[in-house]
Amino acid sequence: MTLVAERSHVVPSGSALGADIVGINPVSPSSDDIQLVKSALRDHLVVRLRGYDISDVAFTRFAALFGELEGSPAYSRTRAVYVPDCPEITIISNVVEAGAPIGEHGDGELNWHSDKGFVELPSAYTFLLGREVPASGGNTSFCNMYAAADRIPADLRARLADLKLKHQRSHTAQGTRRPGYRDIGTDDPRELPGPQHPILRTHPESCRQALYLGRRFGGYIVGLPLAESEAVLNQLWLCAAQPEDVWTQEWQTGDLVIWDNRCSMHRRDAFPGMGRRRMHRLTTISERPY
Ligand SMILES: [Fe+2]
Repeated sequence: MTLVAERSHVVPSGSALGADIVGINPVSPSSDDIQLVKSALRDHLVVRLRGYDISDVAFTRFAALFGELEGSPAYSRTRAVYVPDCPEITIISNVVEAGAPIGEHGDGELNWHSDKGFVELPSAYTFLLGREVPASGGNTSFCNMYAAADRIPADLRARLADLKLKHQRSHTAQGTRRPGYRDIGTDDPRELPGPQHPILRTHPESCRQALYLGRRFGGYIVGLPLAESEAVLNQLWLCAAQPEDVWTQEWQTGDLVIWDNRCSMHRRDAFPGMGRRRMHRLTTISERPY
């Protein structure tokens, strides 16, 4: 009997975003495989490769085929499980060993956000690899921000064309202060440091506009009175993450999930007491938002 490799193909989730890619091994992808993953990302915004065993070196090599990798934050390089051969990998984990966390973000809920909107060149793709996952809990949900843009009332959408949102970088999506900003003397969104990005962001490949919000805490629409900025942001956030625009990833060990931060947001359920969770994350740098 001759064994024939399964032909690679895409299996959409059936929701507003998300798809499985079957038959592509990220350890040894061909150029056709990479093109298929890229086109699936363009069409489905989030893709999952399930059931492969991949080293950190091979994981890094695979992600680098999608763009320039960002380095991991300096503070994460002090963790006990920092991967010296792969300085771009950030560990996301609730695990505490010898009294110290081995990674970032603990076991709490993470509010809706896109990755690294608070820098001038934010993350394009995020690659999250489930090294250890609890039997339940810690799911990651994704929402389609093209759909969110399409929900904006026409008169407001026309107004947004000329407006920019400041994505503050001093606080997390949960409103806690980041390392390096502990002493910042204000929580006023107008005063917080951060880059300005278009509220309606054009995707360079699809050429479609997505609502680009980053995170809610500390957001400020440049030039508006604060109360008006808050009112418009509240209205825009109501357009995002409607139930029919959401798909939820329930993690299995070895899952590699890739998403496009330019047209999606994500959130994580809390999972206190539900077991060890250790994810290895890579991100690529995007073009300047326009
Ligand atoms: Fe994130």
